[in-house]
Amino acid sequence: MERKTFYITTPIFYPNGELHMGHAYTVTLCDIVARYQRLLGKEVHFLTGSDEHTVKVVRAGEKVGKGPKEYIDGILENFRSLYSSIDISYDQFIRTSDKETHWPGAIALWNKLVEAGDIYKKKYAGLYCVGHEAFITEKDLVNGVCPDHGVAPENIEEENYFFRLSKYTDAVRTKIESGELTILPETRKNEILSLLKDGLQDVSFSRPVSKNSWAIPVPNDPEQVMYVWCDALANYITAIGYGRDEKGFNHFWPADYHVIGKDILRFHAAFWPAMLMSAGLPLPKKIMVHGMITSQGKKMSKTLGNVINPLDLLHKYGKDALRFFLAKEVSPFEDGDVTVETFEAAYNSALTNGLGNLTSRIMQMAISYEVTYDAKALGSVQDTILSEKHAAYRASFDSFRLNEASGYVWKLIAELDAEIQTKEPFKLFKINPDEARVVVKGLVEKLWEISCLLAPILPDSSAKVQLAIVNKVKPTLFPRK
Ligand code: MSP
Repeated sequence: MERKTFYITTPIFYPNGELHMGHAYTVTLCDIVARYQRLLGKEVHFLTGSDEHTVKVVRAGEKVGKGPKEYIDGILENFRSLYSSIDISYDQFIRTSDKETHWPGAIALWNKLVEAGDIYKKKYAGLYCVGHEAFITEKDLVNGVCPDHGVAPENIEEENYFFRLSKYTDAVRTKIESGELTILPETRKNEILSLLKDGLQDVSFSRPVSKNSWAIPVPNDPEQVMYVWCDALANYITAIGYGRDEKGFNHFWPADYHVIGKDILRFHAAFWPAMLMSAGLPLPKKIMVHGMITSQGKKMSKTLGNVINPLDLLHKYGKDALRFFLAKEVSPFEDGDVTVETFEAAYNSALTNGLGNLTSRIMQMAISYEVTYDAKALGSVQDTILSEKHAAYRASFDSFRLNEASGYVWKLIAELDAEIQTKEPFKLFKINPDEARVVVKGLVEKLWEISCLLAPILPDSSAKVQLAIVNKVKPTLFPRK
């Protein structure tokens, strides 16, 4: 029987600096879901990548005397190394500068929009914020600068191609209201519906080649290149074959999940569905919109000095500590705060004193009491996840509440701790060793079950616990800091 497919995407990141906690957050959430779906037996395609044709990347390269390609190649090395140090199991990394993988599909999509009569040329004057890579209005400004980027917008007058976004206001609204395109959580769905109430305005979809010669040329017009968002959104379909491999494309499209931050909701929940409808393509099934990672209640910024580098946390506490914090301590649908203090407190209580201590106590007893068990008879990860009694864990995953799914596992950890306290096998062993062995065997089996449920969330620790059980050794997990 053919396996069901599951296609999940992260936004493609601007490679104009280092990846920070916010980026690490998006990819970690996607990774947990991708691993979970693989464990259920699905054929998963997990896509991530880089959004390269942006003026800010070109400018960042110029600052250090490098051309865009050379500059980005260096940055992407860092992206990949961060991904591998948090065990991000992506299947594909798309680069929008990839002329073989991305460009044919982006051009094919543009041609479809033209065929639908949705592209027209118009002279336009407006304020352009390079940070947003979008036109903004006077009323968006605070003291003359864009409040998100702290920079004054550029005054631009250009002749561009426009996309008839306005034509799709009602159609997009219907898809969202009917749930055909699900926006998670409800608050973001309402936010986009209220934006649609005001009606969408046509949007500039190209820039003069003189402004960004590095971008994808508009078909049949050597004077214009594609606007970064039109080029970037296309990555979700070009990566899997649109415009070059129809079979591959149809295999995975429509996507099951686009996972994005709340700052790019409008592009994904209005532009993108409209573009797909114009091209006669099915819409993604769900868009999951997460909150922002803040520190001390504020957006991380160099000026405020509250930036937390994921690499620092990784070096000190290890990859599963970072994954744990992002999955369990942050609500996926709201902003979440990270400080070194809260991180360390969570590490000590849930990992060192929680999972780490529980594993070492149980294995210590299993070894010293010479408890016998057949490791091969312990259930598989898949059977455990699919078992009737863990329906609540699966329900949390199905609604993208990864903090709840993680909370479910930590509840089992607490229960197992409590069981040791009540049954006191360490005292029992002195009076009745055989009975104590039966108790400890039961504890080992429950620890195994916990390790199975941890597999998508903390793959490394899950494997370490399982190895310890199979080889009957005491592992070192989460040393005290
Ligand atoms: N290139 C566009 C996306 C194109 S997708 C077709 C872009 N890139 S980005 O690098 O600026 O941001 C990528 C993602 O990181 C976005 O989802 C954004 O919300 C997320 N985050 C950036 N800072 C963040 C936090 N501080 N917290 C959580 N996520 C954040 O936008």
